[in-house]
Amino acid sequence: MKILVTGGLGYIGSHTVVELLNDNYEVIVIDNLSNSKESVKDNIEKITNKEFELVIGDVCNKDIVEDIFKNNKIDAVIHFAGYKAVGESVAKPLMYYHNNLFSTINLLEVMEKYECRRIVFSSSATVYGKPESLPIKEDFKLSTTNPYGTTKLMIEDILRDLYVSNNDWSIAILRYFNPVGAHKSGLIGEDPNGIPNNLMPYIVKVANKELECLSIFGDDYDTKDGTGVRDYIHVVDLSLGHIKAIEYVLKNKGVDEYNLGTGKGYSVLEMVKTFEKVNNVNVNKKIVERRPGDIDACYADSRKAKEILGFEAKKGIEEMCLDSYNYVKKNL
Ligand code: WQD
Repeated sequence: MKILVTGGLGYIGSHTVVELLNDNYEVIVIDNLSNSKESVKDNIEKITNKEFELVIGDVCNKDIVEDIFKNNKIDAVIHFAGYKAVGESVAKPLMYYHNNLFSTINLLEVMEKYECRRIVFSSSATVYGKPESLPIKEDFKLSTTNPYGTTKLMIEDILRDLYVSNNDWSIAILRYFNPVGAHKSGLIGEDPNGIPNNLMPYIVKVANKELECLSIFGDDYDTKDGTGVRDYIHVVDLSLGHIKAIEYVLKNKGVDEYNLGTGKGYSVLEMVKTFEKVNNVNVNKKIVERRPGDIDACYADSRKAKEILGFEAKKGIEEMCLDSYNYVKKNL
């Protein structure tokens, strides 16, 4: 079976390519290196002792995408490629709408032309906006508060409409909660360009003395200790969820959405304290104002992915904290 992975050198994409190769899938990656490095390919091949084809190019370039389908029989696609920084999307909405939507429509048009109608799409829990209750179920109301999240919701709607137009499609929409951690080898992990927006990469850089102090955005939320609560899922677990989704779309038809989370929520303070304990380090921290747009708490009802895909996250926050720091100590 040959799988095309768009954005396959990125953080989640690279971990998923490792698991695809481990499961003896043939893999082609298309990546424009806008948020990844070509050296990630070597590290994936070192981890798996297997090779795969890399096409350095942009999914917005339809000719490049078409060449892949002309020269290969692609059985299914995992679509990661897209911009994903919430703050940046607020500042540059057109860049986000153009890149994320245009690339996806290009991809789907070529897939349709070559009658490849199996796709796993990288969506996000951000499509739920501020949930009315917890844990969050897949049939909850959808609403977004930033252009990045809106592109994810728009693409979900495009996929649902596509299935209505042609029931031969098989589409798994995966809504990630908060991916953290890195592969045990320390060869691949999260390399955010510049100052990280997300909690774990920031903690890691403070622990590694690259950044001065962690700002904890608010301790007056309606949560156990007042700091924000999120559903952190190890990136390797998340990648294994994509393997389950690929297996499913190769055998079934239809379109459906699945939460990929652990079903457990942890506060910022719990994450920081766990990180300090398991890594035996101190993380300079201070409480500051809330970050605009943040919500109090967000964690998944993860039962549907387990019941239908047979996916269940196994790794706990201790392992996420250990593996995140291990990667940085070995690489950055
Ligand atoms: C987690 C918690 C912050 C940084 C974002 C995107 C979402 C998805 C995952 C793509 C919150 C607090 C953070 C810091 C802090 N990305 N925090 N200090 O906001 O839940 O989700 O990443 O799909 O779309 O919105 O993740 O890691 O930014 O924040 O106190 O320096 O950590 O307030 O409570 P978030 P995050």
